[in-house]
Amino acid sequence: MPSVPNNVSTQNQQSGGGRKTQDDRRNQQSRQWILQQRKSLPVASVEKWIVEEVKKNDTLIVVGETGSGKTTQLPQFLYNAGFCHDGRVIGITQPRRVAAVTVAKRVAEECNVELGQKVGYSIRFEDVTSSSTRIKYMTDGLLLREALLDAYLSKYSIIIVDEAHERTVHTDVLLGLLKNVQLARSNSIVKQHNCGDVDNNTQNHNQTSTLRACQALKYTPLKLIIMSASLDARGFSEYFGGAKAVYVQGRQYPVEILYTYQPEKDYPDATLITIFQIHIEEGPGDILAFLTGQEEIESMDRLIHERVRQLPEGSNKLITAPIHSSLPSEQQMNVFKPAPSGFRKVILATNIAETSVTIPGIKYVIDPGWVKVRSYNPVTGMESLTISEISKAQALQRSGRAGREGPGKCFRLYTESAFSELKDSTVPEIKRCNLANVVLQLKALGIDDILGFDFMEKPSRTAIVKSLEQLLLQGALTDDCKLSDPVGHQMARLPLDPMYSKALIVASEFKCLEEMLIAVSMLSVESIFYSPRDKMEEANAAKKRFSSPEGDHIALVNVYRASAECLEKRNNAKMKEKAVEKALNKWCRENFINYRALRHARDVHSQIKGHVEHMGLVLSSCGDDMLQFRRCLTASFFLNVARRGPDRSYRTTASGQSVHIHPSSVLSEIKPKPDCIIFNELVYTTQNYVRNVTRIDPLWLPELAPQYYAAES
Ligand code: CDP
Ligand code: MG
Repeated sequence: MPSVPNNVSTQNQQSGGGRKTQDDRRNQQSRQWILQQRKSLPVASVEKWIVEEVKKNDTLIVVGETGSGKTTQLPQFLYNAGFCHDGRVIGITQPRRVAAVTVAKRVAEECNVELGQKVGYSIRFEDVTSSSTRIKYMTDGLLLREALLDAYLSKYSIIIVDEAHERTVHTDVLLGLLKNVQLARSNSIVKQHNCGDVDNNTQNHNQTSTLRACQALKYTPLKLIIMSASLDARGFSEYFGGAKAVYVQGRQYPVEILYTYQPEKDYPDATLITIFQIHIEEGPGDILAFLTGQEEIESMDRLIHERVRQLPEGSNKLITAPIHSSLPSEQQMNVFKPAPSGFRKVILATNIAETSVTIPGIKYVIDPGWVKVRSYNPVTGMESLTISEISKAQALQRSGRAGREGPGKCFRLYTESAFSELKDSTVPEIKRCNLANVVLQLKALGIDDILGFDFMEKPSRTAIVKSLEQLLLQGALTDDCKLSDPVGHQMARLPLDPMYSKALIVASEFKCLEEMLIAVSMLSVESIFYSPRDKMEEANAAKKRFSSPEGDHIALVNVYRASAECLEKRNNAKMKEKAVEKALNKWCRENFINYRALRHARDVHSQIKGHVEHMGLVLSSCGDDMLQFRRCLTASFFLNVARRGPDRSYRTTASGQSVHIHPSSVLSEIKPKPDCIIFNELVYTTQNYVRNVTRIDPLWLPELAPQYYAAES
């Protein structure tokens, strides 16, 4: 190639160079803009004070309005103050995956570093960190799992439990655990310190010897920061022995609250009307509407687009941005992008936008007053996912979102008297969930006395005892309620619901681990089948292609295998990765499969496969012997059995609850109906339903689960 003299520039180089300076300029502008934004955040003015308080207190509670900069700024302040200089990490836990990812991206951008280097995140099935990561965002559940591998959480200098007011079950368990870890680390230091004294025998050496001791043992005191957006810090402070609470003054502009005169019967419809009312009648500013879940958001999104098309030229400048937990990460970032000039943005969000993520530009909030709540009845084993009224605390958080950047308005789609009747705050999740996982994890952490564990709020005795019973029957615990070896330990190591973990262990004995691995991965994600209301018949026909008269588990295996075949063909044809993905997406559309869910299931599959191989389980397949697979399902899910009685209705064997096969099941249409079934979920929506169902032979029960069914045989 002929060389180009330094002082002669070719046209290409010139335009390339021009582009480069343009890019540089744009980058610089955006960096300056970010810097300015950061400086204007309420926490920016109290950086020194907060750092001092963290230095002075081992546990600190930081309370501040949503949007004041706690989540994005505090870790950076502490990093700059030298809390990572010895190579240790600042860990920040979030109750939600979406929040962990979006915040980590934002902070990496603010620090001008590549995500996964100095700033990273780690969530179940996705780790974007490296050995150079010092600010690590993660889910609270993930940190609990890390504690299984390192009981002292020794790589962390500071752990920040963020969004603590949400009181997810993981947050509550984590708070108790962190209290223990903090104490254990201090005790180790004191012990080693005392040894050091004896060794050195001089008082002057006290400090150096402590330091040396800590380094030798790799323990330094663990700083804990509990961050909450709810102003009442008393509960946390009392729980941490009177820990100091500091308040960051937020910048909150007045928000006008508007109530309806009459209760609204159809809140999605009322939301839609209010969105357009604001759009037509009110001044500029984005709208944030709170809905209860993905389906509701997607259908609202469609309706808005339909209506916008009918608006006259000029008033049709409305765009939508959905955000909910199962949105792929590249789309999650869309809500933060400003609307194009002249356009109004409508953010359709679940309660994730109450406090977990702060979206700039919002002036109008629509609060229909509902939230989807999962609750569990330990006696019947029934889980219900119901749309329930929000609490007063949630209503206040929601309206607050309208006054972040200037005065705003909040449209509460309920009456003022309905507001006054809302309960003050939400019941913590630990009081309304299946505790089997919590109990298993605590046992694995060496905490045997679950009833005596220092929970911030104790779950009911019945709930704990029921979970212990379940784990005992599954062989995870010994008769004296210790974690069994190897089953209990193996189950605790897998990042799955204990029922699914057990199924994998059983499947390795039944020589159908390959099939069970697929079933469990598919069951761990949102719904695989997709049936849009306007194409119900086509979707049902597509589903029949994978369906099995024996039940849903085999249908899921069939879908997975068909998708794998589709991928394999493309890979064999040496297609590029992007083209292969495109082909899979097309295949999913044609077969009414939820592409995103399938992608997620494939990721889960590859991660869990790694785990089970590491555990030494044998990855064998039962081939076409689906009888063997169903027997294995029976041995795994024997606690979830329902039988058809003389009145032809199903009753669960565990609690005698009357249940119906969910319409989404491949068995819902089949005749004659099976006499006996196993299921994975028992949910109450409009009535009691069992979901993910497979036909079994009742005679298998005493044979395959004698610990539970022996008395019947
Ligand atoms: O944690 P807190 O609610 O106090 O605030 P934050 O999450 O640290 O957010 C501070 C500011 O950062 C917000 O007001 C947003 O303007 C901005 N931010 C953003 O632009 N993009 C994100 N992914 C997260 C925050
Ligand atoms: Mg925050």
